[in-house]
Amino acid sequence: MPSTPPSIIAIDGPAASGKSTLGLRLARALGYLFFDTGVMYRAITWLVLKQEINVRDEAVVTTLAEKAQIDVAPASRSDGRACDVLVDGQDITWEIRRRKVESNVSIVSAYRGVRSALSQQQRRIGQRGQIVMVGRDIGTVVLPEADLKIYLDASAEQRARRRYDEIIARGKQADYNDIFAEVVERDRIDSTRDVAPLKAAEDAIVLDSDKLTADEVFERVLALCR
Ligand code: CDP
Repeated sequence: MPSTPPSIIAIDGPAASGKSTLGLRLARALGYLFFDTGVMYRAITWLVLKQEINVRDEAVVTTLAEKAQIDVAPASRSDGRACDVLVDGQDITWEIRRRKVESNVSIVSAYRGVRSALSQQQRRIGQRGQIVMVGRDIGTVVLPEADLKIYLDASAEQRARRRYDEIIARGKQADYNDIFAEVVERDRIDSTRDVAPLKAAEDAIVLDSDKLTADEVFERVLALCR
């Protein structure tokens, strides 16, 4: 076991595998910053939709990503949010969780220029250390030098079930079959794209959350930090 906790912790994995829940708990336990990089891709996607830009227009979407001012700040309200997400000063924390954003985000995040703009910012923040950074390519591309890399996996059925429960818990309506289809499609795009595809880093510790409760996942990862 390491005598000092790992300073840079990368958590990657497919949609709704429990990365954010784990990351947030871990960051709190260690007194580290929690950074969920998915919110940045979601924020750009939200902007694209708001400005009625064609999501397939790579050049225009990329320019937007290069110019957008995305800020992630400590939660200003206790309404279940892990942090505030602001774009050009507007609070879009819940807007980025909408279905329309979710069904377009993987198209936007596959663009090389978008990834380059966002991952540079992520890298700058991550290199400061004492951070838990969550995403798809943190251990492979953004922070390959991370001290601890976790790849959190689970079956598509289990992940769709969790996402369904989250939506229902927020008082919204949802259809399990639609959510399942979206999760599968998002994974397909995320893991087959040319730039920074979703995959476990060679030195990542792979955990399957189908077989472990959220508490067990957390305890295992915490034990790796102490
Ligand atoms: O919470 P969930 O796992 O459903 O998604 P997320 O982590 O918020 O990420 C949303 C989308 O952003 C993913 O499906 C990816 O397309 C993209 N993403 C990425 O490409 N690279 C990252 N480091 C984080 C997210």
